[in-house]
Amino acid sequence: MSKDNPRAIHLKDYRVPPFLIDRTELHFELGEKATLVKSRLSMRRNPDSDEGDAALQLHGDTSLVLRRLQLDGKDLSVSDYQRDDESLTIAQLPDNFVLECVTLIKPQENTSLEGLYKSNGMFCTQCEAEGFRKITFYLDRPDVMSVFTTTIVANRQDYPVLLSNGNPVEQGEQEDGRHWCRWDDPFKKPAYLFALVAGKLEQVDDSFTTQSGREVALRLFVEPQNLDKCDHALASLKRSMAWDEQVYGREYDLDIFMIVAVDHFNMGAMENKGLNIFNSSCVLANPATTTDAGFQRIEGIVGHEYFHNWSGNRVTCRDWFQLSLKEGFTVFRDAEFSADMGSRTVKRIEDVSLLRTAQFAEDAGPMAHPVRPASYIEISNFYTLTVYEKGAEVVRMIHTLLGAEQFRKGSDLYFERHDGQAVTTDDFIQAMEDASGIDLGQFRRWYSQAGTPVVEVSDDYDAEQRRYRLKVRQHCPATPESDSKQPFHIPLAVGLLDEQGNDLDLGDGQTTKILHLTEAEQEFVFEGIDSQPLPSLLRGFSAPVKLRYPYSAEQLVFLMAHDSDGFNRWDAGQRLAVDLMQGLISDYQQGRELVLDRSLVEAYTKVLSDRSLDPAMVAKLLLLPSEAYLAELAEVIDPEAIHLVREFVKRELAQALQGLLMDAYRHNRSEGDYQLNADAIARRSLQNAALSYLMTLEQPRILVLAQHQFASADNMTDQLAALSLIAHSGFESERQQALSEFYQQWQQDPLVVNQWLSVQATSPRDDSLTQVKALMAQPLFDLTNPNRVRALIGAFCGQNAVQFHRADGEGYRFLADQVIALDKLNPQIASRLLTPLTRWKRYDSRRQALMRAQLERIMAGELSKDSYEIVSKSLA
Ligand code: ALA
Ligand code: ZN
Repeated sequence: MSKDNPRAIHLKDYRVPPFLIDRTELHFELGEKATLVKSRLSMRRNPDSDEGDAALQLHGDTSLVLRRLQLDGKDLSVSDYQRDDESLTIAQLPDNFVLECVTLIKPQENTSLEGLYKSNGMFCTQCEAEGFRKITFYLDRPDVMSVFTTTIVANRQDYPVLLSNGNPVEQGEQEDGRHWCRWDDPFKKPAYLFALVAGKLEQVDDSFTTQSGREVALRLFVEPQNLDKCDHALASLKRSMAWDEQVYGREYDLDIFMIVAVDHFNMGAMENKGLNIFNSSCVLANPATTTDAGFQRIEGIVGHEYFHNWSGNRVTCRDWFQLSLKEGFTVFRDAEFSADMGSRTVKRIEDVSLLRTAQFAEDAGPMAHPVRPASYIEISNFYTLTVYEKGAEVVRMIHTLLGAEQFRKGSDLYFERHDGQAVTTDDFIQAMEDASGIDLGQFRRWYSQAGTPVVEVSDDYDAEQRRYRLKVRQHCPATPESDSKQPFHIPLAVGLLDEQGNDLDLGDGQTTKILHLTEAEQEFVFEGIDSQPLPSLLRGFSAPVKLRYPYSAEQLVFLMAHDSDGFNRWDAGQRLAVDLMQGLISDYQQGRELVLDRSLVEAYTKVLSDRSLDPAMVAKLLLLPSEAYLAELAEVIDPEAIHLVREFVKRELAQALQGLLMDAYRHNRSEGDYQLNADAIARRSLQNAALSYLMTLEQPRILVLAQHQFASADNMTDQLAALSLIAHSGFESERQQALSEFYQQWQQDPLVVNQWLSVQATSPRDDSLTQVKALMAQPLFDLTNPNRVRALIGAFCGQNAVQFHRADGEGYRFLADQVIALDKLNPQIASRLLTPLTRWKRYDSRRQALMRAQLERIMAGELSKDSYEIVSKSLA
């Protein structure tokens, strides 16, 4: 880093804004060479500020060319203001004034995809978190809320559709071939929720009648070739709107709700008021091109962005340290929505898997931070699993502690009390406390302390006294912000199983009880227990902790068969497999022969033979712990041993269970017309899980099955599953052929091409880095398109551990090269790609040295704030 090192911003330094903006009038003249942005800001001093005569410091990026600045109609000259790299300062202002500003920007050169930029010829915006300052000078902070009127002028031929937030109020034609449209958003909002879109777009219309009987127009805008991929998102949107009314009593508030699909996008989607902008990969779907997982993901994200209208827009964040106020809460809301739309247990398993692998790894790395961080250098780096996923777990725990009814009272109070305000996570908890009367004092530590608590449980049973005791200890490892942690308030959901596998009554007919862990060590006593029970601990994953209890393999097999808690049933299988695989990893490392214990075969036999189980659940139960999860649990990560052992176990199971797996495959293989419903999705998931086991046998007859499925599939779930199995197999010519056929079939569809790239990037074969480089050299690859980058570079470095961590360090060198190149184009994507390198301390000393060397090489160049923060914290 050659510039002065960027400074960190601290929560403790928060001050209310010295100025407010009551009205924001924007006027855009969109052009191919440059875009002119005129703003008219009605401003006043903030009566709540104690900085009485403070100068006005507007945020503004170096890319803004200032053309004119006027105060109350009078021109200001260069001596009246000061500019630096990040701001424009004007001193000596009256209490009320109008500031008018004309700036020139070049969206067509903006590859950062923050602010106003172009994607496939269309103009679009992304302003969260701090993109608005790349559009014009402004108080670009979430606690400055203003009503916006936006006028857009553009050439009608290329930009027939002109959109912004709120309701369309006026439009007109000009003589020069340009036209204009004015939008008015009556709801106060911070600049990060501003949006503008202009392009040649087609629209699909729908409508929704709210519970109070208002008709809302729903409109999805896409490029013409995507018109056949809109139905699912619109249906998901209507389900979201109905769900938020039923479950939270929240109604939509504008006359129109719009979604636009954009190909170049840094994030998944964005909740701009009335005008959500989506990464095309998170909204466009049809059965031929989209997998079942894709459909479910889109439903969840459409819901997520819609739910932000209340949890984020009507009530927003005071500052970016409070990001989880809207994201944690909204992820919790979308998870519950998805659970209600599909299988609650399966959704929970998926969410917990992500949390336990990726978020726990984040908590154990150099970027570990509390759900409410205390400082940051670049806020874009804090759109993390901790803020989102762990934040959602924290809200879920509040829901558990209060119960559904009190939680709803709390959310009602929160929305009512803070409507139109920018608030803090503390305000959220306060509303929950005030509505329920439940003390969440200690619970607040979940927001301020980073790290994953470890909960260790032991037990004893006294037959004479008919008494069962659980002894529980909690501790939390050190993280960069603090070495010593205070005990957390942890809701531990517990059930006790008798010898037949039935739940014991824990009082009042309850079979699951919430124990409140609040101390470092505690004991819980259960009276009147007739025989030694088997505990089912942390049911439903009631807290984001690592739970330790010395289960035997036999007990785990028993829980897998009998636990009434679906999540724990699955988790017992995971624990059993993890225990066995950890043993095998150490056998492998010490050169011992690998032998698979029978217990897993027995457990899987039961699972596959149990016809009462939902096929989706069977598929989940069959899924071995991922390499990433095994890595997260390891003392020192050995990617090769993890990969080989997992393959070994899979092959052994496939050998032992061939007949049952083949039955499961045949029985669940879809016949006839494709359907997208819970039952059909469940069957496809089991069918493809079975095929994935069978393919490890490397038998030509299984290959033929996969090839047949590949060729005859009428849906992307089946086709892609078969492709990826064939492409990762050792059948050389067949894999080449499948990859090439797939490309021929889908080369016109960028989203499917991304899947094709990812299949190749995640191949465990030794030539995969060479393949990735070759694909990057093809014209289809484009470093300025984040979806392409994620599909190829991100997938190789983040989801192909065995090849990324190859012993010669070439994977690391490759990533560093890409980060260095990307950092100049798109800092957010560059810094995100860095994640796998930041974990260097978890590996053996040889790999540590190789990874560190690449981090140091990156650090030696000129870096964005984004990448600087990640690399410097990783090397600290
Ligand atoms: N605020 C965007 C989201 O919905 C990034 O997560
Ligand atoms: Zn969000």
